[in-house]
Amino acid sequence: MALRMSIRKLAHSYGIRDIRPLCSVNATEILQSRQIFLSPRKMSDKKLFTPGPLGTSPTVKSAMLRDLGSRDVEFIKLIKTIRSKLVQIAGVSDSTFTAVPMQGSGTFAIESVFQTATKRSGAKVLVFENGAYGKRLGKVCEVMGVEVDVISFPENDYIDLKKVESILQGNNSYTLVAMVHCETSSGVINPVEGVGKIVKQHLPDSDFFVDAMSSFGAIPLDLEAAKVDYLVSSVNKCLEGVPGFSYAIARLNKLLGCKGNSRSISLDLFEQYDNLEKTNQFRFTPPTHTMLAFAQAIQEFETEGGVEGRSARYRENCTILKAGMKEMGFKEFLSPNHEGYIITSYCFPQDKNFNFNNFYMKLNERDQVIYPGKVLDADCFRIGSIGYLFPNDVRHLLKCIKDVCKEMNITLPIKE
Ligand SMILES: Cc1ncc(COP(=O)(O)O)c(C=O)c1O
Repeated sequence: MALRMSIRKLAHSYGIRDIRPLCSVNATEILQSRQIFLSPRKMSDKKLFTPGPLGTSPTVKSAMLRDLGSRDVEFIKLIKTIRSKLVQIAGVSDSTFTAVPMQGSGTFAIESVFQTATKRSGAKVLVFENGAYGKRLGKVCEVMGVEVDVISFPENDYIDLKKVESILQGNNSYTLVAMVHCETSSGVINPVEGVGKIVKQHLPDSDFFVDAMSSFGAIPLDLEAAKVDYLVSSVNKCLEGVPGFSYAIARLNKLLGCKGNSRSISLDLFEQYDNLEKTNQFRFTPPTHTMLAFAQAIQEFETEGGVEGRSARYRENCTILKAGMKEMGFKEFLSPNHEGYIITSYCFPQDKNFNFNNFYMKLNERDQVIYPGKVLDADCFRIGSIGYLFPNDVRHLLKCIKDVCKEMNITLPIKE
């Protein structure tokens, strides 16, 4: 009896409710060996104000606490449902678009699109970039050995449509044009619809590819109006699943012409699609637990009101954050005409007592996780508004920032 009680206590500290399986084996030994790796006192969630990985709800996390075989009828149904829900969330018709999940983080989906949409010879890619993630699009092509031109814009500004137009005028050699929707390194939201229209006006046969990793599900985007052929995102961004796979939303008539293009087996988006269509199964070990969690995440997304509901919460998070940080004198990296609400970059304050590592560590001790900057031109840190975060979480973060500043002898409001 006493053993059962102690198993129950220990199991609960790991979030395990059903202790029956544990009682049939040497449970204390197992739990105690796990304890070495996962100190129960540290089991509470940190608040992740980052670009990812992001926080997820307790119900999303608990949805994956079961095993399911990859050929299980339930799992096969789950794959079909998830694919069809993703097309719905994208706001497009399943007769025109398909959703293809790809094992791995977001970059795997990016690589799979480049692998699959560029022919083995004659492909030429054009990337418009204004930050680290845009640069990565160019890098992927370079590493693949695909000819690529990268047109750079300042990190603190939008991709400029006039320049896009002038580059594409009279230049019809590109087979694919790529860009990032929300450049998560700074928080800039790029004008995808404007770029897409210019691309298709000058290069009607080319593919238009959008990395919407940190915006899909939270920033409305009309894929048809923007003439998008491929869009990628990841489950652990605004749809708030646990990390483990990413996905491409692909225009069917484009994807169907891509057989045999990929130089990679695992990243072949066409073969992944084809196999899913024929068998409803992944080609290689599927992320079963992540998919169970994602199905729950989609349900919670729908309950919150879809893209509209999610964007409203993130906007509110961001509004509270910006007001509170402004009051403390922190200066945003972007000018006020930028209305992104995914992530906000802040310049390091000029106060001689400010040291980012200390600032970060002191917040981390209070379970508040922010992120270093990723812009090249300025010393910045970033605070995200996305994931399982609510206005009261942001208010608490602001209070922690105030306390940390006091502890670091940083005078508030900061004077620049
Ligand atoms: C716009 C964008 N592209 C690509 C990535 C890379 O995704 P991952 O780290 O999941 O591979 C990220 C990650 O935050 C991102 O924000």
